[in-house]
Amino acid sequence: MSTMKGCCQTKAFAGAPCGTPVLIVILPLALLCTLFLIISSPNHFQFSFFSNCQPNEVSDASLDNSEPDFRLLIGILTIPNNYKRRHLLRMVYDLQRPFPRAQVDVRFVFCNLTTDEQREFIALEILAHNDIIILNCKENMNDGKTYKYFSSLPQMFEGEDKPYDYVMKTDDDTYLHFHNFLESLRGKPKEDMYWGSGMPMLDQDFPPFMVGTGYILSWDLIEWIATSDIPRNDPAGPEDIYTGMWLDKAGKGINRYNMGPRVYNFNGTEAKDFLPETIAVHSLKNDFMWATTLKHFNATATIKPSILYHV
Ligand SMILES: *[C@@H]1O[C@H](CO)[C@@H](O)[C@H](O)[C@H]1NC(C)=O
Ligand SMILES: *[C@@H]1O[C@H](CO)[C@@H](O)[C@H](O)[C@H]1NC(C)=O
Ligand SMILES: *[C@@H]1O[C@H](CO)[C@@H](O)[C@H](O)[C@H]1NC(C)=O
Repeated sequence: MSTMKGCCQTKAFAGAPCGTPVLIVILPLALLCTLFLIISSPNHFQFSFFSNCQPNEVSDASLDNSEPDFRLLIGILTIPNNYKRRHLLRMVYDLQRPFPRAQVDVRFVFCNLTTDEQREFIALEILAHNDIIILNCKENMNDGKTYKYFSSLPQMFEGEDKPYDYVMKTDDDTYLHFHNFLESLRGKPKEDMYWGSGMPMLDQDFPPFMVGTGYILSWDLIEWIATSDIPRNDPAGPEDIYTGMWLDKAGKGINRYNMGPRVYNFNGTEAKDFLPETIAVHSLKNDFMWATTLKHFNATATIKPSILYHV
């Protein structure tokens, strides 16, 4: 009954002293929790009711109580020591929620931890956010980390028939504009699907590969990568080119969607340096580039005036 546990350990009580007064409050609440668990039959309804208790387990789709159009796992490939970037990305992406009729799980993906500091700090992050996947590998960029990521997923979600429709690989220097991004996915096939920004430029109708900024594979292709000899025998190389190469060798990824120029590298600070239909901006290497991009997309425009701060 993990849902119960999550529900009854709400933050409101985290700092409360132990003893009977607390029990008097908690007991009726616990009863209420149990009651709702029993009477609410469809799974996603339970989760929507308890959404405040288990932030990371909850799909956005459940917030409006309907089945999601699709379920997407976003793996942001990063390294353990990029604490600051993870902190930024969590805010940037959480503030774009909720995503209507889509379940979107954002996870940070890296290889084995190597220091005692990492083991303590990253355990803290996992406790606080539960959004980290650690692969069995040594940190690397083009030495098979992406292969490791894709091929590890079916085992990690063993027992779940099809945990996601789509799996994305992206980077920690990529900004995703979620509204444009998710709308571009809606209604697309959920089998044999390969989505991204195609390269090289001469073959835009059926590009041989999608650039590493961000690309998506349907779950059947993830299962294929996990079991086929084609990627297993050739896992290490420029990861985006290699992913395309594996699929092309096997005649897979027939449903190929090229978002072309809507995925681009940071170009400058002027409004004209960004496109209106932007899906992703890549190569955000420093705070200046991030701040410029966030400002352009009005990431903080909703901040309310207050006597408590001036920004
Ligand atoms: C990664 O860590 C696991 C668990 O400690 C260990 O079994 C494995 O050998 C490590 N893998 C690599 C490639 O270092
Ligand atoms: C960014 O610059 C490149 C190269 O100069 C250009 O091809 C591209 O269209 C520019 N993108 C935007 C969004 O301005
Ligand atoms: C940001 O907000 C301003 C003011 O509402 C608007 O004119 C502009 O188009 C918005 N920018 C983007 C990229 O949506």
